[in-house]
Amino acid sequence: MSTQNRQMKILVIGKNGQLAQELSSLSTVNVEVICLGREQIDIIDKSSLFKTIKKQNADAVINACAYTAVDLAEKEPEQAYKINTLAVKNLAEVCKELSLHLVQISTDFVFSGLKSSPYLPNDDIAPLSVYGKTKAEGEQHLTQIIPKSSCTIRTSWVYSCYGNNFVKSMIRLMAEKPELGIICDQIGTPTYAKGLAKIALTAAVEKVTGTHHWTDAGVASWYDFAVAIQELAIEKGLLVEAIPIKAINTESYPTPAKRPSYSVLDKSSSIFSFPNLPIIHWRKQLSCMLDELKNEKEEKQS
Ligand SMILES: NC(=O)c1ccc[n+]([C@@H]2O[C@H](COP(=O)([O-])OP(=O)(O)OC[C@H]3O[C@@H](n4cnc5c(N)ncnc54)[C@H](OP(=O)(O)O)[C@@H]3O)[C@@H](O)[C@H]2O)c1
Repeated sequence: MSTQNRQMKILVIGKNGQLAQELSSLSTVNVEVICLGREQIDIIDKSSLFKTIKKQNADAVINACAYTAVDLAEKEPEQAYKINTLAVKNLAEVCKELSLHLVQISTDFVFSGLKSSPYLPNDDIAPLSVYGKTKAEGEQHLTQIIPKSSCTIRTSWVYSCYGNNFVKSMIRLMAEKPELGIICDQIGTPTYAKGLAKIALTAAVEKVTGTHHWTDAGVASWYDFAVAIQELAIEKGLLVEAIPIKAINTESYPTPAKRPSYSVLDKSSSIFSFPNLPIIHWRKQLSCMLDELKNEKEEKQS
């Protein structure tokens, strides 16, 4: 059978995260998506990683696993390094040996946030946190080891119906608390994991190379995002009533990890490299996710 006729196999490392769960539903007649979790693959042990990946006989690999606990990483830098840097180096070396294309997901937290116009993929990186630093070092291994057979997609503020994220936390807190204070001086863009999954899969299938930025369209502060979550959640019957939401400064909500105050990502290179993937405004994407959350809730109740 020629390669053109056979179903492509894309191996996703990680299984239970937001991105991996969205990827797992993207199999088609032409593309099979296989997700392996901790039980099946050890990303720290290179020889076991090599054996497991080889056995899968895949066409490309997407790394959807990461140490994403941004604040905890300040206390556990070794753990964050192992998963965000060392495992990515291992993966890059294994993919090189097996001639496999590798798609890595990175973050807006590789930037300092001192710019006031959208960050370009080749802008200088200057991470402020352990998480950002370990992700940046992971990126560098990819560009050193397999520059011509890897793609790094930087994204920001990811949410979905799966796992824990800002949208789900806000809905829970808005139902429990009399009022909320949300940071208004960190500016970025929310990203629905469903769209991120589509670009990651396209990068793997089409073997896109280089570093690209992907978020939903538009710009927001966490405060803007929270206000929209409340408005739309009430409209869809996920919340009963509005509570006051106060705009607060980063200074009045100190966290162990420093975050960039501005991390809007310029997506021009993605528009060029992924011409069939529309970049949709974050508020519209948020509305889609809340519809999905509502359907899930109704299915559980019925
Ligand atoms: N979430 C965001 O706001 C955000 C923003 C910018 C960039 N990103 C990047 O986007 C990508 C996807 O993020 P996400 O939100 O989908 O992350 P997530 O929901 O936190 O999922 C990360 C996954 O990595 C897995 N993992 C961690 N350590 C592992 C290990 N040693 N072995 C195997 N699996 C391990 C976790 O497995 P368990 O579930 O078993 O622990 C988890 O399923 C990541 O590269 C992240 O850095 C995320």
